Amino acid sequence: MSKTITLHTGAPMPTIGLGTWQAQDEEELERALDSALEAGYRFIDTAYLYGNEAIVGRTVQKWLDEGKGTREELFISTKLPMMGMRPEDVPEFLGASLSNLQLDYVDLYLIHVPFGMLRHGMQNLDEIVAGEVGTGALDMETDHVAIWKALEAEVDAGRTRHIGVSNFNERQLTRVLDNCTIKPANHQIELHLYLQQPDLVAFCLERGVTVTAYSPLGSPGSKWLNTADGLQLPDLLGLPEVRELADKYSKQPAQVLLRHLIQKGLVAVPKSTNPERLRQNIDVGCQAIYDFELSEAEMDTLDALDRGEEGRIIDMLLIVGVKDHPEYP
Ligand code: A2P
Repeated sequence: MSKTITLHTGAPMPTIGLGTWQAQDEEELERALDSALEAGYRFIDTAYLYGNEAIVGRTVQKWLDEGKGTREELFISTKLPMMGMRPEDVPEFLGASLSNLQLDYVDLYLIHVPFGMLRHGMQNLDEIVAGEVGTGALDMETDHVAIWKALEAEVDAGRTRHIGVSNFNERQLTRVLDNCTIKPANHQIELHLYLQQPDLVAFCLERGVTVTAYSPLGSPGSKWLNTADGLQLPDLLGLPEVRELADKYSKQPAQVLLRHLIQKGLVAVPKSTNPERLRQNIDVGCQAIYDFELSEAEMDTLDALDRGEEGRIIDMLLIVGVKDHPEYP
């Protein structure tokens, strides 16, 4: 099985990337990135909102300066934040991300969420969450097609190789697809055993939009989310069905979860700042993710664990303090 999938431009995208959400501790993330690059990760997923692009930039630059690899070998993605959801904001926010990352271009620039928020001087997600912003801070003028045109201009300007979306529903993505000159290359969504989104995934793949799974392990580190509306974090790594397959193939539970996703032609961005675990999640040395195959029946068993919307962990509207919105999700 190939370690990359092919985007609509013909460019390869690694099927496993390092997720960096909630990795803000400078030294810890720097060490994790060093270990990840050493272990063979070539895809790093960040976002303006994560507040850690500068750490990613510094570490990547060091790796390049030390001659350990070339920029062309890397696949770096970042995202336009919800307070940059106006066409005229796009050059500013992509420019800031490129400057943080110390790069001339990113490989993929995603619209982070489908809704826009008024800026009120907010810089990152912590400030938005801490600010207890309500529905009043939503920007009701957000127009995905207008923003998309600004993203297309950034491809033309060479500041990003591909553009895509994240957290969109089918209706929102359809509107972009129907009005674009440059196609979305990728859609990054929450995707794991309990939220498999088969219809949205099928729709994307049929339309040639690749899909990246975020929180592919069920975000076991996001304990703080347990307090949001009574959510109970799932223990996907402890599920008997997963443990049984891990035993059978002498793999770790996380490797079974990731294999289930990449075997469907999807990309996954598991987050880890622990060198041992981040190696598990790609394991180039002994090819752990790529050297075994789940049978059709085993894939079906895992597919059947889907809980639909009830399995959702990350509610982006709730995270920014908005209960509901007439347009979203
Ligand atoms: P850590 O960073 O300490 O390794 P997700 O990508 O679904 O959001 O999950 C990320 C969480 O899962 C983090 O808390 C991370 O902790 C943990 N994690 C990452 N890889 C593994 C693994 N192979 N086994 C167990 N837990 C893992």
